[in-house]
Amino acid sequence: MEKGKVLVTGAAGYIGTHTAVKLINAGFGVVVVDNLSNSELSAIEGVREITGREIPFVQADCNDRAALEEVFRAHEFCGVIHFAASKAVGESVEQPLLYYGNNLGSFVTVLELMKEYGVPNIVFSSSATVYGQPDVLPATETTPRKPATSPYGNTKQICEDILRDSVAAYEGLNGIALRYFNPIGAHPSALIGELPKGVPNNLVPFITQTAAGVRECLSIFGDDYNTGDGTALRDYIDVVDLAKAHVVAVERMVGGDMKEQYEIFNIGTGRPVSVLELVRTFEKVNGVAVPYKIVGRRAGDVEAVWADTTLANTELGWKAERSLDETLRSAWKWEKHLRGL
Ligand code: UD1
Repeated sequence: MEKGKVLVTGAAGYIGTHTAVKLINAGFGVVVVDNLSNSELSAIEGVREITGREIPFVQADCNDRAALEEVFRAHEFCGVIHFAASKAVGESVEQPLLYYGNNLGSFVTVLELMKEYGVPNIVFSSSATVYGQPDVLPATETTPRKPATSPYGNTKQICEDILRDSVAAYEGLNGIALRYFNPIGAHPSALIGELPKGVPNNLVPFITQTAAGVRECLSIFGDDYNTGDGTALRDYIDVVDLAKAHVVAVERMVGGDMKEQYEIFNIGTGRPVSVLELVRTFEKVNGVAVPYKIVGRRAGDVEAVWADTTLANTELGWKAERSLDETLRSAWKWEKHLRGL
């Protein structure tokens, strides 16, 4: 029997597709809403192929209240996972109103409809970006947030605050914010994965495209950081592990196991990895070369950030499981699938 129905907004995106698969495999019903502004219908096809299930899909913008209300009217949801958002840091600096409009507007609309239709649980996609450069590492959930360095980062902070305030004000509303560190990799089937439009901003898609010959050379942004090899440190979390964290969060809410009505969890591995270490590991486990050059630092980058995952481990009972080797193999398998290599 179905455990309950979950509305997944932005489910055609990178993390949304992987989460939809895990939800379905865990016995939840899934309804998908996406405006396809930064994703393809083929991603939903991938989810269908992996799960062997038809998935109700509505192409709609979460800012379109009337369209979204139809979805709330047509289904009874036990919870919502809200991924739908714009996510390019540079673009957000150039077009802040687009980001505030999309990311804040859609979140408020989703919460309003939840309130109106009595949907009690929401998981929000937050980001380690809310920590900026923490004074003390690893970052715990109580590590103070730093002022955001981009409108994108600011929308993540504001949405966390919107959720905190809404949960405090509206009886029966529960919220979990998951602060993702750096999601990478792809489903082992290579039927779903990250689909960056244009030149990738993120490291791993740039690496896989360079290995595939689509890009000539990877630029490593800075080797003069105060780290072991001078390149920046991040916490790279496998997207399948990350997807599982959402299922665990939904189960916690639906099962009435929350300690507070608003909870925050870091979702990472707890292990810092440098840019150079990532590149070399990718080359080693896949047996391919990634030509690279060292260039200047990228504006807005922090030196080092990684997660203290104790809370997620103990409270959620969730732990990152896939090794970095395995994750980087899956990233390459996905790129090869995309390029027909
Ligand atoms: C970025 C965003 C962050 C967002 C996250 C998820 C910035 C400043 N931060 O995190 O807000 O939540 O993506 O999408 O953009 N690197 C290279 N060469 C490249 C690309 C990246 O050396 O071509 C380096 C970066 O300098 C960084 C590391 O690789 O040290 C990871 O970069 P990236 O994948 O873009 O993630 P973040 O910058 O950590």
